[in-house]
Amino acid sequence: MTAGKALLEAAARLAACGVDEPGPNAQWLLADAMGVPRLRLLSEPGLPVEAAALRKFKKGLVLKEQGLPLAYILGWQDFRDIRIKVDKRVLVPRPETEELAGLAAAFLRTRSGELLALDYGAGSGAIGLWLAKEFPALRLKAVEKSARALACAAENAAALGLAGRVEFIKASTLETVAGPVDLIVSNPPYIPTSVIPGLAPEVLSEPRVALDGGGDGLDIAWMLVRLAPSKLKKNGALIMELGGAQAKKIMAAMPDAVWKEKRTHKDLNGIERFVFAVLNDK
Ligand SMILES: C[S@@+](CC[C@H](N)C(=O)[O-])C[C@H]1O[C@@H](n2cnc3c(N)ncnc32)[C@H](O)[C@@H]1O
Repeated sequence: MTAGKALLEAAARLAACGVDEPGPNAQWLLADAMGVPRLRLLSEPGLPVEAAALRKFKKGLVLKEQGLPLAYILGWQDFRDIRIKVDKRVLVPRPETEELAGLAAAFLRTRSGELLALDYGAGSGAIGLWLAKEFPALRLKAVEKSARALACAAENAAALGLAGRVEFIKASTLETVAGPVDLIVSNPPYIPTSVIPGLAPEVLSEPRVALDGGGDGLDIAWMLVRLAPSKLKKNGALIMELGGAQAKKIMAAMPDAVWKEKRTHKDLNGIERFVFAVLNDK
């Protein structure tokens, strides 16, 4: 069996099961099974697929057909320029969250000296660990309600050589977390509870605690807006990722007496997704 033929058959099989992007999914699975870069499969379709690789590939295809996210099958997800270990304990980091991390980095570049950042709802640790890698003077508080997710974040920190600068905090409210910090960044769960049952099976295989944001989807976001002023240094920032229409709603509820430089940012799909605000120095 050649790589090209295996890919064609697999893509047709995934498409028949209604899997999105069957071609790229098949390529990632085969590249992983063969231990070669994905693009090599495209440039050398005549590469032979050994029996052991074919067996691993077929197992991966079955899991994909069953609706498992590709990242869970591979065991990792690239996030900006770091590779994050992911499994069923954590949400798979999304491309828009890479944009959130970019906004946080742009803010941190305006600060000088030692930096203290707090990643609220850290999950796999992707946001905060990428920031820690990017800013050698940064110390990070990775706050997470799920002990299983926090363990995954700790594994990622160790694998990236960043554990010495990260404090892992198991908490379900900001209230109990000590400040003050320069930045609170968060991609909280923000899907309204009523919407959850209608989500794609792939999304439903991710932890519910990472998805369900309560009645209006904004339980954690409202809590952060309320408590962040008592945990931020003056001129510190709160930067959050939310769903469509939520960002403007949250921003409108942030009083000018407390916050300045308030703005929302669109993601690359044009969705008003990010809230940015700086704590007043008054
Ligand atoms: C949308 S996921 C984001 C995970 C990761 N930061 C990312 O962007 O990929 C939200 C995370 O918040 C955590 N979480 C949910 N409720 C929480 C709470 N009350 N306090 C702290 N963390 C919470 C979930 O366990 C989950 O890991």
